[in-house]
Amino acid sequence: MSETHLYPVSEETAKAAWVDNAKYLEMYEKSVSDPEGFWAEHGKRIDWMKPFTQVKDVTFTVPGVSIKWFHDGTLNASVNCLDRHLETRGDQTAIIWEGDDPADDAHITYRDLYIRTCKLANALRAKGVKKGDRVCIYMPMIPEAAVAMLACARIGAIHSVVFGGFSPDSLAGRIQDSECCAVITADEGLRGGRKVPLKANTDKALETCPSVSTVLVVRRTGGDVAMKDGRDVWYHEAVEGQPETCEPEEMNAEDPLFILYTSGSTGKPKGVLHSTGGYMVYTSMTHQYVFDYKDGEVYWCTADVGWVTGHSYIVYGPLANGAVTLMFEGVPNYPTTSRFWEVCDKHKVSIFYTAPTAIRALMRDGEEPVKKTSRASLRLLGSVGEPINPEAWEWYHRVVGEHRCPIVDTWWQTETGGILITPLPGATDLKPGSATRPFFGVKPLIVDSEGGPLEGACEGNLCIAESWPGQMRTVYGDHARFEQTYFSTYKGLYFTGDGCRRDADGYYWITGRVDDVINVSGHRMGTAEVESALVAHSKVAEAAVVGYPHDIKGQGIYAYVTLVAGEEPTEELRKELVQWVRKEIGPIASPDVIQWAPGLPKTRSGKIMRRILRKIAENDFGALGDTSTLADPGVVDDLIDNRPAT
Ligand code: WT7
Repeated sequence: MSETHLYPVSEETAKAAWVDNAKYLEMYEKSVSDPEGFWAEHGKRIDWMKPFTQVKDVTFTVPGVSIKWFHDGTLNASVNCLDRHLETRGDQTAIIWEGDDPADDAHITYRDLYIRTCKLANALRAKGVKKGDRVCIYMPMIPEAAVAMLACARIGAIHSVVFGGFSPDSLAGRIQDSECCAVITADEGLRGGRKVPLKANTDKALETCPSVSTVLVVRRTGGDVAMKDGRDVWYHEAVEGQPETCEPEEMNAEDPLFILYTSGSTGKPKGVLHSTGGYMVYTSMTHQYVFDYKDGEVYWCTADVGWVTGHSYIVYGPLANGAVTLMFEGVPNYPTTSRFWEVCDKHKVSIFYTAPTAIRALMRDGEEPVKKTSRASLRLLGSVGEPINPEAWEWYHRVVGEHRCPIVDTWWQTETGGILITPLPGATDLKPGSATRPFFGVKPLIVDSEGGPLEGACEGNLCIAESWPGQMRTVYGDHARFEQTYFSTYKGLYFTGDGCRRDADGYYWITGRVDDVINVSGHRMGTAEVESALVAHSKVAEAAVVGYPHDIKGQGIYAYVTLVAGEEPTEELRKELVQWVRKEIGPIASPDVIQWAPGLPKTRSGKIMRRILRKIAENDFGALGDTSTLADPGVVDDLIDNRPAT
């Protein structure tokens, strides 16, 4: 890859920032040479009920992987997000809510948010929900989603937020896996003027979820929904008359805060479990330094709370820091493609954090929808979810930020809890497309396929050599899968699943997943999940799914489908299969391409050769490599000859 433009930190930015380059180097050095000392100091940034004396107790060796931080301390996450701000900023806005309809918005102060959280926490307790119980949150982007998370945290219940775009089946699978006792949802969601039937989906899901005894339903649209006697309660009725204070549960630092399901290369989605103390320290610290957050600034992360980005950088990190966090219910192109920038102007947003896929989609509509807005309040831009291609980076920088705003390209994962590799705006000279350098305490290691560490400029598999406080602790209910997935590929290291290049300046360039996970519009999808949805259809005999380059989505979903004998591959059936996958998993899993495959390339032992399928999907027929081990090399020619245009 050619070395691109360098965008140096301006002197002005460096001076105003929490951290300039000299400070970054000094803090980074301390963080890796004396992690105990470093984190003992920074662990104090949050309020402990009982202060910790132990900092870290970690082993990455299989079996016996164990990760503990601040583990003799106690705290409550909601107290850190709410109570501790009441005296200093009770009347300051905590959440600016911007509705799907531009006429709908609200400002919620820290005191309001505290009261709402306490009332819901009391209502949950009244329903018998207690410390350690799992509560599923299946909500649109409304303030009650944040309130629900904080209310769970207050009483020590473990929340499991499920993205509102997931199907009843996907929702059911997640509720069953963690045996949730309650679900908090809404009648309907509203996105881009369209309604999402959240309660109806919940009802459908709960047909197979005997663990759920309580459903709280927020009235969002007023749409007609069924309420099941003895199980379903309107949220506003449940909180009515509840006290405005609620005794917080005292949680150990290592008590779970939440579970969030994410896709892997095999099997069903994993319940990524995060604990309380380290997560709060890490998300609040990264939010402050990466976004260089200063008191009173309006900060907007456009993610959905159904993803980890929403957990860490809409709710927990910003609220722990007493920030003004903007929560947006809508989509970038409704009512017009100027919406993002209009919202920035309307609420005077200083810091804006979004995904490359949104930037690429908006780029298509040209500069006009951006330029007709002011964006004068913006001073920092962020990117997350997938590699940002240099063209999109340059456009974001030039058109949106008018060359004035640094871009922080933040690399991290559901598993990491918070940002691991990223520029710091006052410290890091930028290269478009590079996530640049590690955050404090993070030791990236690039290894070859045998696990041998590579030095200097190199390319290989990205591992992290030491723990950081925000790291996931286990896969809910399956610690062996946790060890197997992340710690067994390369001994003693956390393996990220990403490929990565390090350049001569020590900058990191994430090249994408090296496993069977694909990244569609910044959303993680296991190819195995899409395959099992496809083969669940009665007319499908076999399916193989791979990613392929997609202009807007980053990667698209490419499915090779073999029909059962006697079935005709018609256009109608193609559409039916796309609908089928949407229904089975959710719209984000819709295949972009279905290629009929009379046969799939397999080794003589019957293993599907995905390498070849990936190449065909990428339209890269010259690089198929060795096909001599195939049981029937003829199938490859057939697939090439019949590859549909994309
Ligand atoms: C995967 C994690 C991090 C929260 C949202 C996604 C890819 C994420 C970047 C980036 C290049 C990135 C990686 C990673 N990814 N951010 N800045 N540059 N790639 O969380 O669903 O857990 O997905 O997203 O491949 O492994 P996730």
